Amino acid sequence: MVSIGENLLIVNDAAALVWRLRHYMAEHSEVALITDENLNRQVLTHLPTIAGLFPLDGVFVVKPGEVSKSITQTEQLCLSLMKRGFDRHSLIVNLGGGVVTDLGGFVASVLKRGVAHLNIPTTLMAMVDASVGGKTAVNLGHAKNQVGTFHEPVEVVIWPGFLKWLPERELLSGFAECVKHGLLQGGNHIKMISKGLPDDQNRLASLIEWSVRFKASVVCADPFEKDSRKMLNLGHTAGHAFEALSMSCTTPWLHGEAIAAGLLVALQLSVRLAHLDSSFASYWEKFLLTNFNFPPFEGIDADQVVRMVSFDKKNVGRSARFVLLKGPGVPVLDQAVPDDDLFNAVRNVMRLIHGL
Ligand code: GLY
Repeated sequence: MVSIGENLLIVNDAAALVWRLRHYMAEHSEVALITDENLNRQVLTHLPTIAGLFPLDGVFVVKPGEVSKSITQTEQLCLSLMKRGFDRHSLIVNLGGGVVTDLGGFVASVLKRGVAHLNIPTTLMAMVDASVGGKTAVNLGHAKNQVGTFHEPVEVVIWPGFLKWLPERELLSGFAECVKHGLLQGGNHIKMISKGLPDDQNRLASLIEWSVRFKASVVCADPFEKDSRKMLNLGHTAGHAFEALSMSCTTPWLHGEAIAAGLLVALQLSVRLAHLDSSFASYWEKFLLTNFNFPPFEGIDADQVVRMVSFDKKNVGRSARFVLLKGPGVPVLDQAVPDDDLFNAVRNVMRLIHGL
């Protein structure tokens, strides 16, 4: 068992997870579990000790995917929890990927002006990013994460054993956030990432630990993203545009696939605008292109991606703002990127990915 900071724990087995759950259940008046249909069917059937801790009417199973990150779903969950007698000393346990931890965290932050929540991430993406750092959100219309709060969980308990049920594509998607963390921290972290996604459990667990330690240190220095936490948006400005536009494609991109493409754009822009060494950028460009698969991007061109970036909530006035890299471990925040440079970088990346 590894303890990181005050409220992050990496456990080695399901028994330690159950022990932690029992500890928090004993401390709270009412407890409810929020999870999704996939988890409920594929994972909890193998882990009856976890499912069995909760009363049947205290388990809330939402549909998998972004569709559940909505105000409507929030309202339904709040009403159900009120019916169960939730008060300000109650606890919500979020067991799932980023959708469940974002949604359940948001519900916890608004119900009764805030109840406690415990995050148990089950995907690599949620373990190294979504469940850590207190960000919660739901979507509004087609725009992601437009309504949200900062609400720290009482604890994040990570059991890497969940990943044996995770499809390879989802595992790789989470690995994109690990690559981002490696680029932002540099040093031994980036060396470890350069070996690719580990295929054995021990190396995977240590990769998770590196990533989580790094993210926790960034969040601790700037919990409300006033300044240095913005570095965690590396790859996300263009990444969000790729992700949103891919929704109309035959195979919508996973978040991490879009972030990998966003990192490619950020590397190109970093060479042009932040003096990033071009051989370093080429190395990581090849790494991203060989380690990630990008589903086809039918009927979408670089112009559309640039237009979508301009809607990004992190823009100030009319110019696109990016996190770029000066070197490994040296991010540049709030870099203004002229539209022409952005267009060229996006077009190059789309050619590299799909020959478009
Ligand atoms: N996912 C970026 C952050 O937590 O700040």
